Amino acid sequence: MSIIINDFEKMNITKIKKAKNNKKLTVITAYDALFAKLFEEVADMILVGDSLNMSFAGKPDTLSATLEQMIYHTNAVCTGAPKAFVILDMPFGTYINKDEALLNAVKVYQQTNAAAVKVEGGEDRADIIEHLTSNSIAVMGHIGLMPQYVRSEGGYKVRGKTKEDAEQLIKDALAVEKAGAFALVVEGVMSDVAKQITDAVNIPVIGIGAGNVTDGQVLVWSDMLGFFESFKPKFVRHYLDGAQLVKNAVNQYRSDVQDASFPSKEEEY
Ligand code: KIV
Repeated sequence: MSIIINDFEKMNITKIKKAKNNKKLTVITAYDALFAKLFEEVADMILVGDSLNMSFAGKPDTLSATLEQMIYHTNAVCTGAPKAFVILDMPFGTYINKDEALLNAVKVYQQTNAAAVKVEGGEDRADIIEHLTSNSIAVMGHIGLMPQYVRSEGGYKVRGKTKEDAEQLIKDALAVEKAGAFALVVEGVMSDVAKQITDAVNIPVIGIGAGNVTDGQVLVWSDMLGFFESFKPKFVRHYLDGAQLVKNAVNQYRSDVQDASFPSKEEEY
């Protein structure tokens, strides 16, 4: 069954903030112009996630992504989807202090059409977020399971399992909101705690692995379309069996080449 909904409206910060309690926001990652074009009129926001370092560059984690890489992919996405609200994920090491963060975020605005940047961190990074927002950079926060902390935390750990951690997450969300972020990604958090976070702040909370209690959802495109075969996290739903479909198609192509049924007379000059 195909469901095509044509109610696309170009998003901006004001509309995104107004969506809280009114409309669930749909966010998807994209790394290139081709897929960005396909998502442009469906997603409320397109995130050029540093997850591209894993699903696109084949690396074991996101930590080696560079700003140059993120700028290259963001330009591809903005070119393919000029109507989309595009967010560039600031890679590891590019916002280690307020000055570095601002220099790098300004570079993003100068060299791409990204509408906003995303940074990971809660109370510990609130001063950096505040420095960016007070210098006219639109910031999306990201708390909970933060992939850029994978090596320092010793793995990817679901958050909010203890009362102390739940309290810390709420403090993180409030600090990010107070610092001026327009929205907040909450990743890998127990859904009852994600609900408390969503209720505690006035900015939209976009969940990933945080249950259906948030103001919207974000998924990595290659996960949700079934292209990433090696592992399927519990929170991912496959909307397409992408890997299998591609393999079937490429095998069919090979077989057509081998038996000379491709190209046909109609496909000749
Ligand atoms: O890098 C990314 O794709 C992300 C999403 C998972 C939120 O940060």
